[in-house]
Amino acid sequence: MTPESAIDQQDNSIGLIGLGPMGLALADALIAHGHSLTVWNRTQSKADDLVARGAERADSAAEVVAASSITIVCLDNYATMYRIFDSVDAKFDGRALVNLTSGTPNEARAALAWAAGHGIDYLDGAIMVPPPLVGRPESVLLYSGGRGIFDEHRKTLADLGDPRHLGAEIGLAVLYNTALLDMMYTTVNGWLHATALLDSANVSAREFAELALGWFMPAVVDYASLAEQAPDLDAADYPGALGTMAMNLNSLEHITRTSEEQGVHAEQPRLMREIAERAIADGYGEQNYFAVYEQFKKRS
Ligand SMILES: NC(=O)c1ccc[n+]([C@@H]2O[C@H](COP(=O)([O-])OP(=O)(O)OC[C@H]3O[C@@H](n4cnc5c(N)ncnc54)[C@H](OP(=O)(O)O)[C@@H]3O)[C@@H](O)[C@H]2O)c1
Repeated sequence: MTPESAIDQQDNSIGLIGLGPMGLALADALIAHGHSLTVWNRTQSKADDLVARGAERADSAAEVVAASSITIVCLDNYATMYRIFDSVDAKFDGRALVNLTSGTPNEARAALAWAAGHGIDYLDGAIMVPPPLVGRPESVLLYSGGRGIFDEHRKTLADLGDPRHLGAEIGLAVLYNTALLDMMYTTVNGWLHATALLDSANVSAREFAELALGWFMPAVVDYASLAEQAPDLDAADYPGALGTMAMNLNSLEHITRTSEEQGVHAEQPRLMREIAERAIADGYGEQNYFAVYEQFKKRS
């Protein structure tokens, strides 16, 4: 047997704890890739369909661990994971636990310490896609922690989506996850607030979408040029030749006043204006708008 097939063989038995919408999607992907799967969920009936398709239903989380070379956990939060394992005597004996529950970096660090105390090889992770996209090769799942654990189980993890190992620091996967969600919500809020401004003049979202999303986003808020400027953020270099913070404050003032005039929510533009004002007060008035990055890096 080659070392590679040994790894395949070893990971053929997978344990899964948590069968919410995401856990069920993980189960589907694992079954689709031919893994034998042992599952446990608080509400046992959620496993019925999986059992009909060949999965084993365990009576406890300890049984899942005993039947599996790697156990994946996907629950509502980390506290639930402790509650489940603290109520049973699960014998990991150095086998891996991959936690795909969303949380914070401190929660991931506490989980690593808990796992070390129980003789568990622990990898933390986060899922960047909704349940229907799990299992597609282009769907990214984030991992952090021991590189050796990741490499050993990489083939299995690749059956859930594109596995990205972000570093040994255990909190990195959930930190990246939160950063990307932060970007998603602020971007979506930008679109929604702008649409509300147009709605105040009875322009439909559908009508506005063509200009806002069809032209403005790709042509002006252009992701390639944002990526090109990333090194400037790292270097704290914000040349103001093409537009200064003071000029941008003027635009933010217009957004705020127009929101107030049109009777739509004005807190979001007011906050953006306030952040630019703070940047100017800190001496960035003649630099470009990206200097607000210096405000974001500070604890408020
Ligand atoms: N759904 C998404 O779109 C999505 C996308 C990316 C990441 N995620 C992450 O994936 C994780 C799971 O999400 P989800 O969508 O499957 O739903 P969820 O509501 O976050 O988690 C549901 C799971 O937690 C279990 N659970 C909750 N309280 C429990 C308790 N006291 N004791 C035992 N089990 C308990 C549920 O068991 P019962 O079935 O018995 O209630 C179920 O298995 C979360 O961390 C979420 O942030 C979800």
